[in-house]
Amino acid sequence: MSTNPHESAHLHVSGEAVYVDDIPELHGTLYAALGLSERAHARVNAMDLSRVHAAPGVVAVLTARDIPGRNDCGPIIHDDPILADGVVQYVGQPMFAVIADTVMAARRAARFAKVEYEDLPAVMSPQAAKAQQSFVLPPIHRVRGEPAAALAAAPRRLKGTFSVGGQEQFYLEGQISYAVPKENAGMHVWCSTQHPTEMQHMVAHALNLQSNQVVVEVRRMGGGFGGKESQSALFACVAAIAARQLNRPVKLRLDRDDDMMITGKRHCFEYEFDVGFDDDGLIRGVKLEMVMRAGFSADLSGPVAARALCHIDNAYYLSDVDVRAMAGKTNTQSNTAFRGFGGPQGAIAMENIIDNIAREVNKDPLDVRKINFYGNSTWKPERNTTHYGMTVEDNVIHELVAELEASSDYRQRREAIRAFNATSPVLKKGLALTPVKFGISFNMVHYNQAGALVHVYTDGSVLVNHGGTEMGQGLNTKVAQVVAAELGISLQYVRCTATDTSKVPNTSATAASTGSDLNGKAGQDAATQIKDRLANLAGTFFNADSADVVFADNYVSANGQSISFTELVMRANHARVQLWSDGFYATPKLHWDRNTLTGRPFFYFAYGAAVSEVIVDTLTGEWKHLRADLLHDAGNSINPAIDLGQVEGAFIQGAGWLTTEELWWNDDGKLMTHAPSTYKIPSVNDCPADFRVALYKNANVEDTILRSKAVGEPPLLLAFSVFFAIRDAIASVADYRCNPPLNAPATGEAIMRAVEAVRARQGA
Ligand code: MTE
Ligand code: MOS
Repeated sequence: MSTNPHESAHLHVSGEAVYVDDIPELHGTLYAALGLSERAHARVNAMDLSRVHAAPGVVAVLTARDIPGRNDCGPIIHDDPILADGVVQYVGQPMFAVIADTVMAARRAARFAKVEYEDLPAVMSPQAAKAQQSFVLPPIHRVRGEPAAALAAAPRRLKGTFSVGGQEQFYLEGQISYAVPKENAGMHVWCSTQHPTEMQHMVAHALNLQSNQVVVEVRRMGGGFGGKESQSALFACVAAIAARQLNRPVKLRLDRDDDMMITGKRHCFEYEFDVGFDDDGLIRGVKLEMVMRAGFSADLSGPVAARALCHIDNAYYLSDVDVRAMAGKTNTQSNTAFRGFGGPQGAIAMENIIDNIAREVNKDPLDVRKINFYGNSTWKPERNTTHYGMTVEDNVIHELVAELEASSDYRQRREAIRAFNATSPVLKKGLALTPVKFGISFNMVHYNQAGALVHVYTDGSVLVNHGGTEMGQGLNTKVAQVVAAELGISLQYVRCTATDTSKVPNTSATAASTGSDLNGKAGQDAATQIKDRLANLAGTFFNADSADVVFADNYVSANGQSISFTELVMRANHARVQLWSDGFYATPKLHWDRNTLTGRPFFYFAYGAAVSEVIVDTLTGEWKHLRADLLHDAGNSINPAIDLGQVEGAFIQGAGWLTTEELWWNDDGKLMTHAPSTYKIPSVNDCPADFRVALYKNANVEDTILRSKAVGEPPLLLAFSVFFAIRDAIASVADYRCNPPLNAPATGEAIMRAVEAVRARQGA
């Protein structure tokens, strides 16, 4: 549609955009800090907080006993205490809160606690959790076809293991909440959250209030990336509990180290696979077991496991499958949503298997990928059902990959790279093209609904409120565009308010990339209702049928006559026509059976593909991203500028996950990589020197908002191409004849180890 800049872009760059910590503070505001567990799993026999109380500036110290309502902030299962009570389950778990008259006074005082711990046995890794059958939720298991027989009958077979690391969301604005007590037991919380409604519920439960006594408001986040879907709750609750007890405004803002020590991240996964295939590399049967690091509580691990299980196929038809996903309970941070929500971890398992198969059958991995693709109407149409029983009706992966293969000169570059590697003993180049198919909708059907509230004022300006939250992804820009388009007016007359639980209630998290699909449709529904009323009125002026009234370019016309939108609105007000409306949307066609793990969990799929070329120094493990070509399907893009930004950002974020970002816990279960000094997110230097990004021309076959497709998460999976390009470069050391033992993240050390292993095998 149009490439309008992000509605807050000018505020972002000038520093005028207001985040929670920028809201002018009310008189009497106090500041909170949290006291954290130093043990991975222990009984707390005594907690002496006298020195904390006595520290300068301290006004109050709160423990679990000070919570008037329920001590729980778990989004689905209630196993997530706000403040630990008697037992601690990871290093970093909040045990008490200090409230003081400055932030620094609160943070300093929090260190003065004397705690007597009695250590309990701790589980430190997903493998250990699996060995002990320590799970936060029962494992899920899906079998389609006859995998055991297919494996036994396959001409070739390969077993192996693989793993991918976790990832810190690293939103630039850390977790923060500002709670202000209101009259008659009310509470207003400004919170950096993707899920205002859930924050409202959690605060109400913690304070023993009804939902109608709590308002949660969020203007914008400085990034969420899934990390503020459920895990903003602990901070909203602590701020609100303190504000209630002291009857003063309380702000809780974490510093980066505490944020990383306390909050959950992307789940790391460990895989065991057994795959049967033929001499062409066509998969006949596959068995895959995945165990993930859930951390100490369930949080969102159940739905993350389900999405991982639903994405192991990526773009490939798997006739006979046995897949199991286990959420290992470990004494570490409770892992949570992160862009892709388990989808990337599911899909990369199969990409790794295919990459292995390609070297086994001595073919270009791209050719093995292609023969395993889902069918379409002209090529093997019978290969079109997923292992969870959904029919793939919108497959564009063949055309999309063909277009990218040509535009990126894949074949010529493959030849050039082979020639380069043959004469370059130390520096080795690698190339990979990887596809993406990503399901859009929440796996949980009832989450797929949204509301909006649109006001038209008598001057013709429009104010839009909807249930989604803005975290930089451009949701407000898109919803405003949709409303402007529906009313036929310029975008400058439309403004989005902050998200506010007192305006649109009972909303879902802005997550699963569904923000614009859901809220765009709800906003459009509201605008259509207003427009219909205006069209009726205009019809009477113009002596025309209301269906013939056209709204375009800030004018309303029919029957050869026309007036400005503003003029019509004014007249409507005089004629006592309602100029505001609510709107609602529920995604159609969805159904999901949680017991059989079958149904149609997704309204449609988003597709994409990427080619990465890297150069690896096989003596040091250092590497550079030389070129990336991305082609991504955003449907009929509502805003190509914003969508290109999402594609680029997701790709770089995914590349960080698979290469430089490494979470490391010491033997005592303490996360040692809890600041940018030890945890390396990508910077501008890590972007490909030659970066070519395009949107694939395609309109959604389903009736989505303006036939667009969700774009927030799917392009993160394009970064698989970076990992497999590095692996390709390493494989060249042994003339592509063996599979490098490379897990993600492919850090410099990991690359070195893989190169050495390949060299050793070649020598053997
Ligand atoms: N883009 C920016 N700039 N900041 C973010 O925090 N979060 C991502 C993605 N893009 C994020 C982002 C995640 S995890 C999701 S689910 C989607 O945006 C959510 O927004 P949407 O549903 O409106 O796409
Ligand atoms: Mo995104 S992980 O669904 O918030």
